[in-house]
Amino acid sequence: MSTSQKVIVVTGASQGIGAEVVKAFRKLDYRVVATARSIKPSEDPNILTVAGDIADPETARRVIGEAVTRFGRIDTLVNNAGIFVAKPFTSYTAEDYAAVTGVNLNGFFYITQLAIADMEKHASGHVVSISTTLADHAIDGVPAVLAALTKGGLNAATRSLAIEYAKRGIRANAVSPGIIRSPMHPAETHAALGALHPMGHMGEMSDVVNAILYLDSAPFVTGEILHVDGGQSAGH
Ligand SMILES: NC(=O)c1ccc[n+]([C@@H]2O[C@H](COP(=O)([O-])OP(=O)(O)OC[C@H]3O[C@@H](n4cnc5c(N)ncnc54)[C@H](OP(=O)(O)O)[C@@H]3O)[C@@H](O)[C@H]2O)c1
Repeated sequence: MSTSQKVIVVTGASQGIGAEVVKAFRKLDYRVVATARSIKPSEDPNILTVAGDIADPETARRVIGEAVTRFGRIDTLVNNAGIFVAKPFTSYTAEDYAAVTGVNLNGFFYITQLAIADMEKHASGHVVSISTTLADHAIDGVPAVLAALTKGGLNAATRSLAIEYAKRGIRANAVSPGIIRSPMHPAETHAALGALHPMGHMGEMSDVVNAILYLDSAPFVTGEILHVDGGQSAGH
């Protein structure tokens, strides 16, 4: 096994955008560590799967620990695990709040700390987090304060990490999608969701994957929130 092969950790990798990220980086011959609660073992020796709840700091410890033991280092972390609960503000329950902040914020914080600690050892690395354009462009009729609170936090943390590590070889970026045709959205909602974009249609998972691939290959880009949203961030 070549030691020049890069190593990427992908959270939320059991389905949807995360599963597509795994496939895309395997095509580039990265070694991949894929995690989610329901992730299944892979027959590909270059894919290590670690099952667990990313809201739990112990999962982050296992993922990064097993990644370093098996593959020796971490080059890229994709913080993709996320859940979306849209409700009128006063209808959110304490369980909604705990679930969304658990996956979207704890799920970013603990694993990013451990991944960056490894990246610091070789003075290089890249953290990409998946945000949402709803965080800074709220849509009338789609109440989603918990998405704004958590993903807005990821955008701010991305810029903050970019500056903290700019001189130490570690980059931090985010991809801010509009609404993407993934298992998150049942087919019967697609027409209505598509209409929420200036372009009049939803995005594809490949649109997000291509943005991650670009950011990972862009050594002078850090602190970028790359909108992949059919024009939502430009206006309406
Ligand atoms: N689809 C969209 O329209 C859209 C728009 C903007 C942003 N995004 C963001 O893009 C990312 C991926 O979305 P997607 O559309 O691919 O969603 P998805 O199809 O629902 O997949 C979500 C992934 O997150 C994992 N996950 C959920 N809860 C978890 C937990 N507690 N611990 C570990 N893993 C957990 C799921 O795996 P398990 O269930 O196996 O744990 C799954 O692999 C999310 O961060 C989402 O917020 C999506």
